[in-house]
Amino acid sequence: MKPTLQEIETSKRIVEDLIERGILDVVVERDEGLDLAEWSTDNRLFLKEKGIVTRTGETKICLLSDELPNWVIKVGYTYPGADVEDKDYCSIEADNYERAVEEGLDEFFAAIYEIYEVDIPEEYDCNRKAVFYIQERAEPDEEKTSCTCKDFICSCCSCKSCEFCGEEGDDYDRLESLFGKTSRLDRLFAFVNEYDINDLHSGNFGYTSDGTVKIIDYSGYEEG
Ligand SMILES: Nc1ncnc2c1ncn2[C@@H]1O[C@H](COP(=O)(O)OP(=O)(O)OP(=O)(O)O)[C@@H](O)[C@H]1O
Ligand SMILES: [Mg+2]
Repeated sequence: MKPTLQEIETSKRIVEDLIERGILDVVVERDEGLDLAEWSTDNRLFLKEKGIVTRTGETKICLLSDELPNWVIKVGYTYPGADVEDKDYCSIEADNYERAVEEGLDEFFAAIYEIYEVDIPEEYDCNRKAVFYIQERAEPDEEKTSCTCKDFICSCCSCKSCEFCGEEGDDYDRLESLFGKTSRLDRLFAFVNEYDINDLHSGNFGYTSDGTVKIIDYSGYEEG
């Protein structure tokens, strides 16, 4: 999926509003800074008025706006002292998406595009830019993507009839249970291994408005 010009304009305007509201205080994780929950509480009236909901994981901030029903806005966390070379998990995700397009595997991934870049002001002591992206919206549904008896994905989600219960599944089984035995499954599996997409837990899949399942978090994660 590609955004329309209007969706790009709308997302840029939302990002500008968020920056004005101090979202960079959260993007740059400083000891004395705010975390996303605190920032969202401080700005709850603004967020309510704008119809924006905030979500987060270990490495990214995700913003859902009523004005952009088909997309989410994502930006990676960074830290004081971070340099341009340092990891930005959103940009890793965008690189992986480009590779998936080149290899004809993009249908498995929620599309992501860069929309806005801003220098992080000097006072944050951070020598890099904050880069905002939009990604195709695909709602996680843990009931569908995980088995209730263990954190393992199955498509049927009924423990009794789940063919995987009682066995440790691996990423191949997870992908097969969600995407089916497609002829491209082997290539998809090789792709996620090659690019260290190593974090395929149930919350990292989502369903688009037409019910298609997509991988929504495919930047991988490096411990430490
Ligand atoms: N495309 C999307 N559509 C809807 N919600 C999304 C989308 N991408 C992310 N989210 C929400 O934002 C949360 C954080 O995003 P994401 O999983 O990409 O970040 P993360 O910080 O790398 O997560 P993790 O903790 O798994 O490493 C997700 O758990 C999900 O709730
Ligand atoms: Mg995640």
